[in-house]
Amino acid sequence: MKLTLKIWRQKGPEEKGKIVTYPIDNIDGDMSFLEMMDVLNVELVKKGESPVAFDHDCREGICGSCSMYIDGEAHGPDRGVTTCQLHMRKFKDGDTIYIEPWRAKAFPIIKDLVVDRSSFDRIMNAGGYISVNTSGNTIDANATPIPKEDADKAFEAATCIGCGACVASCKNASAMLFVSAKVSQLALLPQGQVEAKDRVLKMVEAMDEEGFGNCTNTGACEVECPKGISLENIARMNREYLKAMVKK
Ligand code: SF4
Ligand code: FES
Repeated sequence: MKLTLKIWRQKGPEEKGKIVTYPIDNIDGDMSFLEMMDVLNVELVKKGESPVAFDHDCREGICGSCSMYIDGEAHGPDRGVTTCQLHMRKFKDGDTIYIEPWRAKAFPIIKDLVVDRSSFDRIMNAGGYISVNTSGNTIDANATPIPKEDADKAFEAATCIGCGACVASCKNASAMLFVSAKVSQLALLPQGQVEAKDRVLKMVEAMDEEGFGNCTNTGACEVECPKGISLENIARMNREYLKAMVKK
């Protein structure tokens, strides 16, 4: 396959960026999108040019690092996959592909396609955990019965990989889908009840402080989320938030 890549290049956080065009040849449909980017980078290095910086780690849809906006969609044109799971067979010979970083005030660009998502870490630090006694008399998790439906919903929420595609797809750059998945995961389980009130208040406060926008229920986040995290989680978080405010 022969392709034309139009890639956002930006030397650093304070530099001005621009789209640069790169023709590329001999791309196999079975390659992943990141493997295609590797081929380009090898060529750039051979020519003495700077390779395109992009985030990646697991390359199997688990770590959430591979944040790329491809042809105007977070993680590209496929559904339910991350950029590292996207295959080049989704494109046609002769295609032009636009590749950009996530665009959100709370995700400043570090270089090229790499953005700083530490705002997500700070939201997690604010309350995305449970406190457990690990002094030697810890209760076995299996000793606490949990209704199957709740366990399934908690598991589904826990599949959020923190990639940030929800923020990148949202016209308001809202982080509600991410935060609500993390709140729901714990709110649905007995182990999460002790700190439930503080958790939701602190995580929402941290989200607002980081400069993420408001949710206006457009639903783009749910469509582009590679893990199919449901908008139901946002409704649950809103209920948890109201409950916590009333009990305040
Ligand atoms: S909710 Fe979906 S899109 Fe948002 S961070 Fe989690 S996995 Fe990524
Ligand atoms: S590199 Fe880990 S999810 Fe894509």
